[in-house]
Amino acid sequence: MEKAEIGLIGLGTMGSNLALNIAEKGHRIAVFNRTAARTDAFVENAGALRDRVVPCYSLEELAAAIRPPRPIIIMVLAGKPVDEQIAALRGVLSANDIVIDAGNANFRDTMRRFSELTDSGLTFIGMGVSGGEEGARHGPSIMVGGTEESWKRVEKVLTAISAKFKGEPCAAWLGTDGAGHFVKTIHNGIEYADMQMIAEIYGILRDGLGTGPKEIAEVFSQWNTGRLNSYLIEITAKVLAADDPKTGKPVVDIILDRAGQKGTGKWSVIEAQQLGIPATAIEAAVAARVLSSIKDERLAAEKVYGGGVSKISGDRDALLGDLELALFAGKIAAYAQGFAVMSGASKEFNWNLPMPVIAKIWRAGCIIRSQLLDTMAEAFGASGAATNLLMAPAFVSLMQEAHPSLRRVVARAAEAGSPVPALSSALAYFDSYRQGRGTSNLIQAQRDFFGAHGFERIDGQGAFHGPWGSGAAG
Ligand code: 6PG
Repeated sequence: MEKAEIGLIGLGTMGSNLALNIAEKGHRIAVFNRTAARTDAFVENAGALRDRVVPCYSLEELAAAIRPPRPIIIMVLAGKPVDEQIAALRGVLSANDIVIDAGNANFRDTMRRFSELTDSGLTFIGMGVSGGEEGARHGPSIMVGGTEESWKRVEKVLTAISAKFKGEPCAAWLGTDGAGHFVKTIHNGIEYADMQMIAEIYGILRDGLGTGPKEIAEVFSQWNTGRLNSYLIEITAKVLAADDPKTGKPVVDIILDRAGQKGTGKWSVIEAQQLGIPATAIEAAVAARVLSSIKDERLAAEKVYGGGVSKISGDRDALLGDLELALFAGKIAAYAQGFAVMSGASKEFNWNLPMPVIAKIWRAGCIIRSQLLDTMAEAFGASGAATNLLMAPAFVSLMQEAHPSLRRVVARAAEAGSPVPALSSALAYFDSYRQGRGTSNLIQAQRDFFGAHGFERIDGQGAFHGPWGSGAAG
């Protein structure tokens, strides 16, 4: 029987959809699931694609069905299940076979797995896949980390199944070992910031302007035709327009305001801190989810302090224009932070991450896909590894136009008591970034006063101490 081009373990929704996508693009795929019934059900539901699916009921059968070197995608729960699956596979694989983890793994686990498998003559790919269930089925964005040789083996299949932006595949090899999963983690960090900022603007519209969900849906829908055009804005409009079948009320009004998280946002922030790169908008977004989860405490605090948001008055069209631009400016700052973190990690882990390519493969298929990413891809392409997106000429003019609105919106929101943690962090980041003379001279003086840590002078080289006198550290 003709060998399969690739294998896949784990026929949950994401795994099944990826497998069907691969078969649909003309590739034979061998599939295995821990429970045989699920494999049977998958094959039964594969319809016309059935002929390209090779159901396997043991790992030995799976390995035998694939053309060597065998690429096998594992789509199981992140963490221990991945290690268990790899351990089980070891016995049936041969030299140069490629285990591909397509889940949302912590890139540090990926680096470990890469080195463990390389040591035993196998190969490992950490593959970030974005786009949810729909993306997996019809075209996700795919971020690959591993050896270039292993990428060459799977490139054809992965580019075929990926989303396309104006015909260009949204799948790329980004570097060795953990590069793909790191980039996916930062993708998710940006996703958190993007979602949080949208929610903050929704909050201002709902509480400060007293706008109902349907009307806010129209606003987002309108924005989606302009500079904010993106998947997240598009789905936000759809979400706000939907009614709850049970009550007939707008569905958004009956959803509890407690956000979940699986960890990738938090990992972005931890890694940003480890690298010493500020990612304040992402940090604020993660913290906002945590704060959202302590609902009981918030209800108690509302009783003590009052939780009301004051009405925001003024010309409605002008306000809406500001809100749109504020969201745009905040988004640029969040992306600037995300790319800066990737740039720091690229140096730290010797990945040589291709920023223009990352921007390109995020233009379609993934959750943060947007029109702006095309501008980013161009900007990175033109300026190479710009120190910061905020310094790329195209973004200088965008930011110059948009930051006054961000400032006005943050100020109005603060006055009204409408929390805007991600937008205000983005603004503070921008203001700090553009301040040639900041206020850390005072921090240095304080450090020297209590700890004799020394400071540099603006008028000379070397380390100096201040004239602090008695009471200061000696
Ligand atoms: C994607 C999504 C996907 C998933 C996140 C959600 O790119 O397709 O980011 O990976 O939806 O894991 O993460 P939280 O549960 O942490 O919000």
